[in-house]
Amino acid sequence: MAFPERFSNLPDYAFPRLRKLLDAHAPGGEPIAMTIGEPRHAMPEFVGPILAANLSGFGVYPPNDGTPELLSAISGWIARRYGVTVADDRLMALNGTREGLFNACIALCPETKAGKTPVVLMPNPFYQVYAVAALTVGAEPVYVPATAATGFLPDYGSLPKDVLDRVALAYICSPANPQGAVASKEYLADLLALAERHDFKVLADECYSEIWREAPPPGLLQVAAAQGADPERVVVFHSLSKRSNLPGLRSGFVAAGPESMGRIRKLRAFAGAPLPLPLQRVAEAAWADEAHVDASRALYQAKFRDADAIFAGLQGYRAPGGGFFLWLPVEDGEAAALKLWRETGVRVLPGAYLSREVGGENPGRGYIRVALVAPQEETQRGLSRLRDCIYG
Ligand SMILES: Cc1ncc(COP(=O)(O)O)c(C=O)c1O
Repeated sequence: MAFPERFSNLPDYAFPRLRKLLDAHAPGGEPIAMTIGEPRHAMPEFVGPILAANLSGFGVYPPNDGTPELLSAISGWIARRYGVTVADDRLMALNGTREGLFNACIALCPETKAGKTPVVLMPNPFYQVYAVAALTVGAEPVYVPATAATGFLPDYGSLPKDVLDRVALAYICSPANPQGAVASKEYLADLLALAERHDFKVLADECYSEIWREAPPPGLLQVAAAQGADPERVVVFHSLSKRSNLPGLRSGFVAAGPESMGRIRKLRAFAGAPLPLPLQRVAEAAWADEAHVDASRALYQAKFRDADAIFAGLQGYRAPGGGFFLWLPVEDGEAAALKLWRETGVRVLPGAYLSREVGGENPGRGYIRVALVAPQEETQRGLSRLRDCIYG
């Protein structure tokens, strides 16, 4: 029986791989999970009451693109956060950014670029859906190192001109998962200028935008507006999963130029799974409220300060600018994760599970990713055990 070839080289997803690596071994202490990027701070108190008040909404098909009230709560948030106006018809509600990042590639990637197979750029390491999206549309994924040498963001401008001319879409993630790097306004402006020169779109995954240490990370919508960029160059994704500690709500949005949005919405009308109406009502309230976001960010900031103290003096330790991961250098990520689990019960993700080998180099191999999602005291204990076991 025939099956598609284009996914045959996909590695297993990171978490089954991790279970295969660790689960045959007993933990060396009380288990502490620092693997998955699942927020564990409290969800906002208004979730339950709003859901209860809107239960009848489960009895109807929800509007595909988002209710007018939700879209206007989102445009209000964008205006407050980035100082730009995005009309509601340039927005669409998502079931979380993951499906949006995938489906936008299907809606927007042309069959050919410059008469050849289109290229989709992505940082390496990266959030794995970008690669699957590229493969789905028959494009060539090009994995661009995002390492210490490039400030942990990809240097797309360094690619050869013949590759850049074939680029249809470029994914960028800021704050970056896993490295925690934050793209500056200058970085984003240069990327937009590159996109203009080589005629491609930038797909900005900004789902960690509200979790930052010193200052709110700049957003692509704001940079595009400031430089008067063609709105069709820019497709931006945001989520309530991290911002509002609601990963189970499955709620986010995409903002794009009018032509791109028309195409994204049309595809969704045929094949999408719109967000249930009661959940859209909850999402509307979450975009309108900052108090719960500020409170959650303060908890992350306290944990980052703990991490700075625990790893003070460790060579290669870098305080991330945003997101909630530490990206720690080790000799070999798999070996370190296994040792840590067997000796202490702390569970972390080998960096190579988030990256691809290119030209014999895997830029994630010498790292582990550590999620600071548990309560502060548990996180402190996990980090101290990690320091003593791996760097002691
Ligand atoms: C970089 C990045 N993008 C997107 C997502 C998807 O998040 P969601 O679909 O919950 O919005 C995640 C989740 O972990 C992520 O780390």
